[in-house]
Amino acid sequence: MAKKLVSGIVGLMPLPLTLVTVANKNNVPDVFTASWIGVLCTDPLYIGVGIVAGSYSHELIEDNGEFTVNVMQEGFVKEMDRLGSISGRDTDKFEEVRLTPHPAKEVKAPTILEAAISIECRVQNIIRLGSHDLYIGRTLATHVDESVLDGDKINIEELRPVSYAAGSYWSIGRKLGQVGSGLG
Ligand SMILES: Cc1cc2nc3c(=O)[nH]c(=O)nc-3n(C[C@H](O)[C@H](O)[C@H](O)COP(=O)(O)O)c2cc1C
Repeated sequence: MAKKLVSGIVGLMPLPLTLVTVANKNNVPDVFTASWIGVLCTDPLYIGVGIVAGSYSHELIEDNGEFTVNVMQEGFVKEMDRLGSISGRDTDKFEEVRLTPHPAKEVKAPTILEAAISIECRVQNIIRLGSHDLYIGRTLATHVDESVLDGDKINIEELRPVSYAAGSYWSIGRKLGQVGSGLG
């Protein structure tokens, strides 16, 4: 392979496409599309999300230090796209895309009723990086819709999550094999 040195390309892909909610101390919520997000530690479960300094959601999370991560199914890609380009400073984003904020169990930020998976997190560390600040949140509760559960596992074909890569949205591809199976 002839590799070329490039700049301005995020080479790590695909990234999960999620909706993150935040709220300030007075329970004023916001929701935004987030792909700069990932699992950092399994036990205890930590999730890190990079949030643009200066955005409305950044202002709210700074006030309260809590967030939820919501995994939406393919059918909500239009809503996720929209929520990635409008600001909660100017509009009620939940109302605009007709998604329903739902009280979380442990945190002030709401979950999203229509989400297949909602993960409640409390920020334990903030790392100021540059364009984004990294919020490292400890997971306090995970809610999974029964329709995407197969016993205690997620049925990925039912879930139909969305990924972000190279400026586009993608559905998940075909299964290549089970972890640890040797794939022989
Ligand atoms: C595909 C996609 C992924 C995004 N990922 C992030 C992200 O991880 N962190 C972030 O702060 N903004 C991200 N954004 C941008 C925010 O969703 C966008 O700036 C939003 O309008 C912020 O809303 P707010 O002003 O209500 O906070 C993403 C946008 C898109 C379209």
